[in-house]
Amino acid sequence: MKLAKQVISEELIRFEAHFKEAVKSRVALLDRIMQYIVKRKGKQMRPMFVLLCAKLGGTINDSTYRAASLVELVHTATLVHDDVVDDSMERRGFFSVNALWKNKIAILVGDYLLSKGLLLSLTNKDHQVLEILTEAFKLMSEGELLQFEKSRKLNLKEEIYYEIIKGKTASLLASACAAGASTTFEDPAQVEKLKQFGEKVGLAFQIKDDLFDYGLDDIGKPTGNDIKEKKLTLPLIYTLNNCSADTRRRIIYIVKNENTQKDKIKFILESVEKSGGIKYATDKMLLFRDEALEILYEFPDSDVRRALEELVRYTTDRKY
Ligand code: IPE
Ligand code: IPE
Ligand code: MG
Ligand code: MG
Repeated sequence: MKLAKQVISEELIRFEAHFKEAVKSRVALLDRIMQYIVKRKGKQMRPMFVLLCAKLGGTINDSTYRAASLVELVHTATLVHDDVVDDSMERRGFFSVNALWKNKIAILVGDYLLSKGLLLSLTNKDHQVLEILTEAFKLMSEGELLQFEKSRKLNLKEEIYYEIIKGKTASLLASACAAGASTTFEDPAQVEKLKQFGEKVGLAFQIKDDLFDYGLDDIGKPTGNDIKEKKLTLPLIYTLNNCSADTRRRIIYIVKNENTQKDKIKFILESVEKSGGIKYATDKMLLFRDEALEILYEFPDSDVRRALEELVRYTTDRKY
């Protein structure tokens, strides 16, 4: 991400200070948890998309920083809640909030992060940005719930999988790009175009994340968690639709009844690899990446556009 970090190097420093300020609390326990969250920061890809999409349309301003903070606040809130929902003890290479402070506190921390974000926009009358992000937050909750509804049945259609990840992940990436763009572009059509761009990036992003779950690499959070949580993602969906009836029966039995046994999960991982599920998902991911780039190329060439292109490629090439 060399170019991206270079093109917005000063802006990223300002963003970090802004974010840190935005999560301060007078409640000692909450402030301690906030310091922990700020220190264990993630890749900050969403604020980078906000800043770069804004810079593509003009000069980054105060409302751009607020949009970047709001997006990262919403993202962090959903991660803190997601780890409760997924019963996951590791995040960003260290203990998750629920692992250290338990579920009850993690729920309240997520609520706090979200309300701080909403207030930040509201007090500054960033109504357009607020509308874009509130809509995304709604879509994220719907996406996660759709996932629950469908995962019980274990015969997830590929189309429904895309609908799920469009909601739970792509909507936030789309709104990051749209929110950033809305702070500099005059023409709403350009903002909409960058929203479409962000959505494609988001679809590729979640497929990458789902592929990580089938790998053995250290990505700073648990792998194999999706099977444990009965979450059917693209590699497995493809496999279930393209393997022998016997393998299919075995996999479904494991996901339902033996999804915490290491050797059984290993059987699923091997079947997915053997049936071409990994390759299939990788190809789909790259297709969405290319669709994103095609939209991006409609904008005139510049350093900022090239930085965005690099960030898109990082989405699918990243190691964690
Ligand atoms: C993780 O997002 C959640 C998903 C949508 C898969 P990131 O991988 O961007 O998380 P951080 O912020 O870098 O930790
Ligand atoms: C994405 O799904 C979660 C959110 C959109 C909040 P995952 O459950 O796959 O995310 P990770 O893998 O825990 O980061
Ligand atoms: Mg999770
Ligand atoms: Mg995941």
